[in-house]
Amino acid sequence: MSMPSTPAADALFSDALFSDQWLTLREPADHLARDAQLAHAADRWLTQRATPTRPLETQRTLVDLGCGSGSNPRYLAPRLHGAQHWRLIDHDAELLTQARLRCEPLVSADGQPIHLETRNLSLAGAWKHGLQGADLVTASALFDLLTAADIEALADACRANDCAVLFALSVDGQIRFHDSSGTPLYSDDDRFMLAALAAHQQRNKGGGPAMGTQAPRHLRESFHRRGYHIREATTPWRLGPESLALAEALLAGWRTALHEQLPQQHSRVDRWHAQRLERLMREQLTVTVGHRDLFAAPIADAAPGAPA
Ligand SMILES: C[S@@+](CC[C@H](N)C(=O)[O-])C[C@H]1O[C@@H](n2cnc3c(N)ncnc32)[C@H](O)[C@@H]1O
Repeated sequence: MSMPSTPAADALFSDALFSDQWLTLREPADHLARDAQLAHAADRWLTQRATPTRPLETQRTLVDLGCGSGSNPRYLAPRLHGAQHWRLIDHDAELLTQARLRCEPLVSADGQPIHLETRNLSLAGAWKHGLQGADLVTASALFDLLTAADIEALADACRANDCAVLFALSVDGQIRFHDSSGTPLYSDDDRFMLAALAAHQQRNKGGGPAMGTQAPRHLRESFHRRGYHIREATTPWRLGPESLALAEALLAGWRTALHEQLPQQHSRVDRWHAQRLERLMREQLTVTVGHRDLFAAPIADAAPGAPA
C-alpha cells in the first residue's frame, strides 16, 4: 500500500499553526456537520436583542476567534439576518488575508453585504481588547487547543459584554471506525491509539495543558457558572468514500501525532495506520469524529457568577 498522496500532515497542522490547505479541505465536512438549529437560535437571539444603546435595527457585531481562512463566517453570515459587522481574529497573518479575500463577498440572510474587520491578535489579546461591543462571540474548531484558564478568561470577557456565544465543532473524543455494514470496529489497537491521540491533544500548546477533548465540558461549565442558558448538539464528521481526501489527511495527521506521543512505538503506529488507511481506500471503512456545538445566551437577570 502506498503512503498517502496528501502533503505531509505536519505541513497541514501543527499545534497552533494550520495551513489554509487543511482548513479548506475540512470546510465542506465542517459545514455539513454543524447544527443548523443552534445557528437559528443565535439568529433569533440577535434579531430580538435590543439594548438602550443599540436598537433592534442597528448593525450587530460578531467576533470570530481563531478565524483561520474564514470558514465560520462563510457558514454563519448567510444564516443570520440584519446588518453584520464581523471582526475576524487570528494570530496568523496569512490566514487573515485569505479570510478577508474570501469573506468579503458574503451577504446576510436578508441580502445585506457584511462589513469586515481583521485583527492580527493572539487569543489572550482577544479576551482583553478584542470583544468590545460584541453581540455574538463565535469560533469553530478551536477549543481543544486552549487551556481551562483561557476558557475562564473568555467566559469572563463575554459576560462583561453581555453577549451570546456560538462555538462550533469542538472535538469530544468520540472517534469510531465502522465497517461497510455499519458495524463498529474497536480493536485493542484502536483503543490504544485513540487513547494516545486524546493524550496528545492535551499536550501543552504553549500556555499550559490544552483541554483537548475536555473542551466541550469546560465550555458548558464555565458559561453555566456565569448565568448563561446553554444549548448543545453533537455534530460529528462521518467520513466515508465521498470524503476520502479528508479522511486520508486526518489519518496522516493522527500518525504524526502518535509518533510524537509514542516515540518508542513507531512501527506499531505505522502498522495500525496502514491497516486503517488500506480499508478506508478500499471503501470498507468510515470514520466518525465526534464534535459538539454550543450556543449560550446570558440570562437577563442572572448576576455574573450566579447559578443559572
Ligand atoms: C483549527 S483552526 C480553525 C480555523 C477556523 N476557525 C475554521 O473553522 O476553519 C484554529 C485557528 O486558531 C488559530 N489560533 C490558534 N491558537 C491561537 C492563538 N493563541 N491566538 C490566535 N489565534 C490562534 C490558528 O491560527 C487557526 O487559524
